[in-house]
Amino acid sequence: MEGLIERAAADLSKARYAIALTGAGISTESGIHDFRAPDGIWTKNPDMERRAYEAYGKFLKNPAIYWEESLTLPDMLGDLHNIQPNAGHYAIAKMEELGILKCVITQNVDNLHQRSGSINVIDYHGNAFKLRCMRCGRRYFPEEYDLMLLKDTGKLPPRCQKCNGILKQDIVLFNEPIPSDAADKSLKEALKCDLMLVCGTSAVVYPFADLPRVARQKSTGSGFHDIMYTPELGSRVTIIEINAEPTPLTEEGVSDYLIQGNTGDILPRIVEAVSG
Ligand code: APR
Repeated sequence: MEGLIERAAADLSKARYAIALTGAGISTESGIHDFRAPDGIWTKNPDMERRAYEAYGKFLKNPAIYWEESLTLPDMLGDLHNIQPNAGHYAIAKMEELGILKCVITQNVDNLHQRSGSINVIDYHGNAFKLRCMRCGRRYFPEEYDLMLLKDTGKLPPRCQKCNGILKQDIVLFNEPIPSDAADKSLKEALKCDLMLVCGTSAVVYPFADLPRVARQKSTGSGFHDIMYTPELGSRVTIIEINAEPTPLTEEGVSDYLIQGNTGDILPRIVEAVSG
């Protein structure tokens, strides 16, 4: 393990444009369950996973009823207001502060990267503390609406103050398209980077799981992405996984190496090794 941490520190020190990709695994040490590990939410509640796959269809069919239910039912991830970032989040924020990491692209909706001090964060699957207009994409804080009053007066769903479009929680549901701003920015970062840290994700959910493959394809010069490739950043991308278990990225050789263990333990040790 120590050798791999030193190797990651050396790779990060050499990198000119390093980014991080994160998943539910980075937040388990904050007390939020992940999804597919042995004690994951889906692993333990296949019925809840089935309902999650139906949610977007239900929203499209009747947004008012969808809102009624979401305002009354408990949140699947528990109460995210009282959850604190952990050492893994702070290490990522520290690497941004040191200028080592340029951006974090996360699948997590828990806002913990922002709360630990990360600035350039792309919420690829949305943010549980925001609402989004389904027509113009504008985002709002729920506090900008009295949602319970709208519910009690039969005026759900909430509407966009700019275009009167219907608002939805910003969280991206299964089968829902990734918001174009997040999708575009993330693809640009994946094409621009020369190092990608992939932390705490099983890398099985698409299109997010495509991002490391896009970066790998770019550096092996196969695929249409070459057109958008920026030659000044050099060709070979280093992809480092930090995860409790191997993933398809490990098995298919998309990543260069896996540091197997907890992000809350490994990431701070990498920061220590980088800062020397
Ligand atoms: N440190 C490192 N790895 C960890 C830790 C930890 N502390 N805790 C869990 N892991 C690993 C698990 O072993 C697993 O491989 O993190 C991974 C989490 O994978 P998933 O549960 O599949 O979560 P994620 O990859 O983020 O899921 C992607 O699926 O359910 C949807 O929208 C949801 O954003 C989510 C998406």
